[in-house]
Amino acid sequence: MWSFGRQLLVGSLAVWSAAAELSFSAQSVHADGEVRVLSNTDFNPVPPRQRWQHNAHRHNATWKETRDLVSYSGSWCGASQHSTRAEKIVNAYGSFTTPNLKLRKGLPAPQYAAAWVGIDGAECKQALLQAGVTTVVNSNGGQSSWAWWQWFPEASYEISTKSLPIKAGDWVSVNVTAQTDTEGLLTVTNLSKGFRVDIEINRGPRLCRIDSEWLIEQFYENEGPQVSLGQFDDIWFMDATSTTERGKNIGVDGAAMVYLQNDKEEVVCKAERYDDSTFYVYGP
Ligand SMILES: *[C@@H]1O[C@H](CO)[C@@H](O)[C@H](O)[C@H]1NC(C)=O
Ligand SMILES: *[C@@H]1O[C@H](CO)[C@@H](O)[C@H](O)[C@H]1NC(C)=O
Ligand SMILES: *[C@@H]1O[C@H](CO)[C@@H](O)[C@H](O)[C@H]1NC(C)=O
Repeated sequence: MWSFGRQLLVGSLAVWSAAAELSFSAQSVHADGEVRVLSNTDFNPVPPRQRWQHNAHRHNATWKETRDLVSYSGSWCGASQHSTRAEKIVNAYGSFTTPNLKLRKGLPAPQYAAAWVGIDGAECKQALLQAGVTTVVNSNGGQSSWAWWQWFPEASYEISTKSLPIKAGDWVSVNVTAQTDTEGLLTVTNLSKGFRVDIEINRGPRLCRIDSEWLIEQFYENEGPQVSLGQFDDIWFMDATSTTERGKNIGVDGAAMVYLQNDKEEVVCKAERYDDSTFYVYGP
């Protein structure tokens, strides 16, 4: 599956990763079997952010229904699961709908929401391997979406919509694998058409492989402020599972349900577990 030429991207992308030596190669696969090796023109690098996006200082853990922990975040909403260093996570998988947005009254346009699956970034703060989709809604109410991946704290890469067409409300699946602390495989699939992009990454920033997340995010723009969160339709996460090195499957039972609070500490997004592999996020 990974027999395509990896030399294509390495040189051209070094501009964003000169210090760390992260390199990657990628292919797109059509439902009809056509495989295309992707080049740097299929990715738009966004320089790494200068600070950690997930401000954990609002964490306030309380036990709900004696099972799911609720914690509060200034930028995340969804489920955050945890394993131990003795039982490292190798895979996080989930399918979900691409955010479908309306303009939220009283906030400036454009407005955004990102949805993603990742390994680390919660208890393990040094790195986060993630892939997902972002939707933007403009002042005229029109919206567009795209897929991306990032191995934080390295740059993120937007995947061109030519390589992976995405539209708000469509189902995507994201498969994040970390075979070692520094090697990753990502797959983002358009489930509507069986169209997918595979990315193989080497020499990423060292992971702990102790967290897995399925989240929507009110992210920070590059070196800028936090974006406005659009008003989103409920987003269901299905088949949410992670797998450990020993082959154990962990769902969202016992995961922290992360609620997003705004600057006034009002909750603007909640996550509600449905079963061990299914939950949804919703907000006003
Ligand atoms: C933390 O949670 C407890 C229990 O729900 C609540 O009483 C308290 O006000 C919360 N603190 C903050 C800072 O949100
Ligand atoms: C999937 O592909 C179809 C057409 O190829 C496109 O209309 C749709 O928006 C895509 N959906 C996603 C989630 O990528
Ligand atoms: C995710 O990717 C890994 C590595 O390629 C693979 O072993 C696994 O079967 C995939 N999981 C799903 C649900 O497709």
